[in-house]
Amino acid sequence: MSDTMSRVTLARRPKGAPVPEDFKLETGTLPTPATDEVLIEVTHLSLDPYMRGRMDDVKSYAPSVDLGGTMTGQGVGLVLESKAEGFAKGDTVTGMTGWASHACLPGSELRKLDPSLPPSTALGVLGMPGLTGWVGLHNFGKPKAGETLVVGAATGPVGSMVGQLAKELGLRTIAIAGGAEKCRLATETFGFDAAIDHRAHDDAASLRAAIAEAAPGGVDIYWENVAGQVLEAVMPLMNVHGRIPVCGMIAWYGGSNIAETNQLPGMWRSILVKRLHVSGFIIFDHWDEFPAFLADVAPKVAKGEIAYLEDVAEGLENAPNAFIAMLKGGNTGKQIVKL
Ligand SMILES: NC(=O)c1ccc[n+]([C@@H]2O[C@H](COP(=O)([O-])OP(=O)(O)OC[C@H]3O[C@@H](n4cnc5c(N)ncnc54)[C@H](OP(=O)(O)O)[C@@H]3O)[C@@H](O)[C@H]2O)c1
Repeated sequence: MSDTMSRVTLARRPKGAPVPEDFKLETGTLPTPATDEVLIEVTHLSLDPYMRGRMDDVKSYAPSVDLGGTMTGQGVGLVLESKAEGFAKGDTVTGMTGWASHACLPGSELRKLDPSLPPSTALGVLGMPGLTGWVGLHNFGKPKAGETLVVGAATGPVGSMVGQLAKELGLRTIAIAGGAEKCRLATETFGFDAAIDHRAHDDAASLRAAIAEAAPGGVDIYWENVAGQVLEAVMPLMNVHGRIPVCGMIAWYGGSNIAETNQLPGMWRSILVKRLHVSGFIIFDHWDEFPAFLADVAPKVAKGEIAYLEDVAEGLENAPNAFIAMLKGGNTGKQIVKL
């Protein structure tokens, strides 16, 4: 066993979209597990949009990454050494390893994985993003058969879970995705009734016309993953008593175009006159629902009834570029780094 490890640190805080110089690949000494800790060799790292927020020094629902600190992230890995009860060498586990080849974590912060499922699924369809779609749709979307749902980033792990669960419940599902290939995957792999390429529309009015054509009865649930032009396009199409689970707003994560798309007064009025239920939620508040989610969704994934896509980058050194690309839609499916 090598006595060195590598990690990706935050070299500087990005201005707008992150660039490779914002990250640094460093090597160091392999840590030794203390009592109740486990030493893990990371095999798969999850890259998620929320990590962009952690790079800023602003108050949010979770602390920022310190300059020089290891980038936050969830990983899957093999136990190399255990000083924690319930874990043994060779177990496959998941936890907040950070962007690193190895991590020492308390056993209480790790979960052992079911060996019958591919380990990477713990980062996507059967992990935090899948749970987000499941929790948010049931608790805040309140779907009813016959209704119409629109979701952006529809081929990603959150959007594809939302679309498939809604379809299973008898809703008409409309995907908003970037590019013809993702639109094809949305309908063929994830069973959406219609898919609209938001990148093919220059403005919100044009995108709105396309969504209106696919949703002739209006929109009952708009699952907010992206904000920006998609939000502007959908808002006037919302039906009375519609629901908007506000999950993410990736179009604004760089902070660049919030001002130009700020339609707040008009949207605020729509919330009143259409009696919309707009529910912001953060998945951290819903971890207690994880066992119920797994019990419901894991058998469906195992039987192929819920599909998922993964986009796998190779090597920790390629994590920054994969992350930068994902924020711009360069990923097709859950973005993972295989170490
Ligand atoms: N509230 C929570 O607790 C929680 C938990 C997990 C995730 N989230 C949020 O859920 C959303 C989806 O997450 P995910 O992990 O499933 O991501 P993802 O779909 O794998 O990746 C992000 C996707 O966003 C789309 N995108 C980027 N810029 C866009 C723009 N300007 N307009 C429209 N679409 C754009 C791209 O897809 P296209 O190429 O199709 O445009 C890109 O592939 C994110 O906003 C994330 O922050 C929230």
